[in-house]
Amino acid sequence: MADRILVDWDENNAQLWGHQPILIKHNLHQSPLFSRQALAELIEAYPREHYNLIQTGPRESRRVWREGDFGGLSGLQIIDAIDAGTLWLNLRNVTEVDRRYREVVQQLFGEINGHVPGFGAPQHTAGILISSPKAQVYYHADLPGQGLIQILGSKRVYLYPTTPPFLTPQHLEDIALFSVEVDMPFENWYDKHALVYDFKPGEMLHWPLNAPHRVENLNTVNISMTISYTDEQIRRLQMVNFTNGLLRHKFGYQAKSRTTSGPSYLAKRLLQRALRNSSWLRRERTARQSVDFKLDKAKLGEIIDLPKTADAA
Ligand SMILES: [Fe+2]
Repeated sequence: MADRILVDWDENNAQLWGHQPILIKHNLHQSPLFSRQALAELIEAYPREHYNLIQTGPRESRRVWREGDFGGLSGLQIIDAIDAGTLWLNLRNVTEVDRRYREVVQQLFGEINGHVPGFGAPQHTAGILISSPKAQVYYHADLPGQGLIQILGSKRVYLYPTTPPFLTPQHLEDIALFSVEVDMPFENWYDKHALVYDFKPGEMLHWPLNAPHRVENLNTVNISMTISYTDEQIRRLQMVNFTNGLLRHKFGYQAKSRTTSGPSYLAKRLLQRALRNSSWLRRERTARQSVDFKLDKAKLGEIIDLPKTADAA
């Protein structure tokens, strides 16, 4: 791609980047890589370990969040099922799976680095989200740096402050430990403190690290891309969150320090290396994330329950 991806860049964004939510213009929604046909082909070839298919509840409910399988549908049928259901498909690590998307995302990160002094070249990845007209993503926070790029349809994005009660160290610790982002407590009154964007194709949002957010699709099927990046400081914070969470859950010890250097940090790094693959953690993670449905080929948009697997118990 010879042309630039980011267009009409506002020079103030260089100072706001990472400190305030900002809206940026892009032209990826015009790229043939995001046509229905191109995405159908991408879906058909997508490795199982790199996608999540989620069923979300209706607007009023917050607690339906089930993981499923494609169930042998073609790529176009899967997109039709998403059109008709309340589903949310996350093609994670598209930069690893397909070279064409990797090149586009690499170019995008290069352009950000050109605009934002000191951004550098963090490790990055991207995912493509295809979601139903009434799908929603519940209140959550992500550990890496994040941006959201709108390709098709529109959605309402709520962004919340990075301070208590919206976000606490314990929330970040639980995310680092269990890799389940949507267990964060949420109250409806939080919305009074949110910045709300009705997000359209050609727009990109970037927000401060860990800022909690939630998303409601505005009655149209949505295609978006998430970008996600980790530099040395973010990596160290993730490690501290992981270890503090482990100390709290496993040993009942409430760590006070969130420092990312010095002896306390080094001790935590050693502890993290020792415990990150422990069987306790594997059991906890499996119990919190298991696939329990597949798509129904006969009724697009419907799902079929799968029997519970023994090892998820
Ligand atoms: Fe997120």
